[in-house]
Amino acid sequence: MRRKLAAGNWKMNGVTANLSELSNMKDAADTKQTDVLICTPAPLISRASVTAEGSNIAIGGQDCHANASGAHTGDISAEMLVDAGADYVITGHSERRVDHGETDAIVAAKSSSAYANDLVAVICLGESLQERESGQTLDVIGTQLAGSTPDAATADNTVIAYEPVWAIGTGKVPTLEQIAEVHDFIRAGLTERFGDDGDGMRILYGGSVKPSNATEIFAVSNVDGALVGGASLKADDFNAIISALDVS
Ligand code: PGA
Repeated sequence: MRRKLAAGNWKMNGVTANLSELSNMKDAADTKQTDVLICTPAPLISRASVTAEGSNIAIGGQDCHANASGAHTGDISAEMLVDAGADYVITGHSERRVDHGETDAIVAAKSSSAYANDLVAVICLGESLQERESGQTLDVIGTQLAGSTPDAATADNTVIAYEPVWAIGTGKVPTLEQIAEVHDFIRAGLTERFGDDGDGMRILYGGSVKPSNATEIFAVSNVDGALVGGASLKADDFNAIISALDVS
C-alpha cells in the first residue's frame, strides 16, 4: 500500500514572513494517511524545519548539485540541504530543465547525490505542449524516466512526479484519461525495471492542482498524490488539497 504524498513546491517565493502559512498547515498535515512535504527556497529551509518541528510536515529543497562540494558558485549540495533540515529534494523540475539546461543525465546524477545523503528524490518528468500535440508524450516520458532515474532508485528513496509542462502555472489540466494514461505507463515502466520497488514508488501528478480539482485527480489510477506549486503558498488552499488526498 503506497502512502499518499501532498508535496508543495514554493519555487522562488517566500521569505521569513511566509512561514506563518507553513505554521497554519500543521494541523491539516497531522493525519495518519497522508505524508506532507513543503519544498521551500533554500534560504528558508532551516527556519522552515524549525517551524515544522513536531508536525507531520517534512521540508525539502528544490534542487541540489550532483557533486558533494567544490567550486560551483551559487550551487547547493545535497549534504547542505540535509544539514539545513531537509528530508527531500526535487530533481529535474521542468523549470530547471528549461532554465538551466538540465539533461536526464544531470537529473540522474543529482538524484544519486540525493540518495548518497539519505534524501528522497522527487524526480520530475513532463512533456511540452508541442510534444503532446505531436503525439510524442509517452516516448518523451519513457525517455525521461529511463534517463533521469538512477539504478539505485527504491520505493523509499524515490518519488516520481508527472508534470506536463503546459499545465504548470497555466490553469490548464490534462483530462483524467490523459493523466491515467501517463501514470499507468510510468507505473509499468517502474515495475518492469525495479520490480516490487517500482510498484511501491509514489507517482505524483503536478500542474495546476487546486482545491477544486484535487479530488477528481486523486481518484485516478496510479495517482499517489500531487506536486503543487501556486496552491501550496497559502495554507487554506494546501490544507484543502491535503484533506482531499486524505479521503481519496
Ligand atoms: P503549479 O506548479 O501547481 O503552480 O502549476 C506545479 C509545479 O511546477 O510543481
